[in-house]
Amino acid sequence: MADSIRSLRLVVLISGGGTNLQAILDRIAAGELSAEVVAVVSDRADAYGLVRAQKAGVPVHVVDYAACLELEPEIPAAESLPVDIGELDRIQKILKSPDPAKRLERLRRLVLAEQELIGILEGYRPDYVCLAGFMRLLTPYFLHHYNRRGEWRVLNIHPALLPAFPGEHGYEDTFAYGCKWGGITVHFVDEGEDSGPIIAQAVYPVWPSDDVEKIRKRGLQLEYEVYAQCIAWLSLGQVKLDQRDGKRPCVLITDPDYPDVLKSWLRKAFL
Ligand code: GRF
Repeated sequence: MADSIRSLRLVVLISGGGTNLQAILDRIAAGELSAEVVAVVSDRADAYGLVRAQKAGVPVHVVDYAACLELEPEIPAAESLPVDIGELDRIQKILKSPDPAKRLERLRRLVLAEQELIGILEGYRPDYVCLAGFMRLLTPYFLHHYNRRGEWRVLNIHPALLPAFPGEHGYEDTFAYGCKWGGITVHFVDEGEDSGPIIAQAVYPVWPSDDVEKIRKRGLQLEYEVYAQCIAWLSLGQVKLDQRDGKRPCVLITDPDYPDVLKSWLRKAFL
């Protein structure tokens, strides 16, 4: 029996140009994706992706992260926040400062921004929160709000073949390392840096005449395909999670056409 298709409510978080957002909007408009982008949220008011969203008639919001993170001297008191900051520090894996006072202050500021973010998102009842070039760290406070009862509901597109090259500069790092193949990854988001369960990956060749901009262009074309395909698999119920106790959760794609999808990505990588 064919899997039933569910139309997904997506909130997309961006920080910049929003070409991945555009690719998702285009596929929805073309009837290729059973989903609706119900809102777009940016951490900065000048992100061009907000214009793309507005052109598509999607509500937009800005959470002023810079104000939250740089706010002086009104760092929110720990008691005024919706989560125990000490406990958050014990489980978080993103802030690496050895100075606990610095980590706690940063966490308080991040939680302040995330409180606003959750407040906005809740009004839209998203099935999935899709990070598409969102350049902010998310704390377990935000993530546990969506990753509940064994469900993973925050997705990210990363411009490298994880677990290689986590962080902000996937294309630069791939090129500088001298890799002969680069890749892109769509994954669920956990408490670490680009370390959550991998949903799909695609690779592209790095040619001797390439530079970073050339591989970015090649990789981005794959990002658009793979992110949309992952959303399609989710809407079809074809993303299963094996999360047995003590083992790293792993994704299994149950699409019978999976090998053909992978082949089509490989062909695209050579265009
Ligand atoms: C993409 O390369 C994505 O992988 C990374 O940030 C970039 C966002 O590009 N996380 P855009 O804003 O979608 O054009």
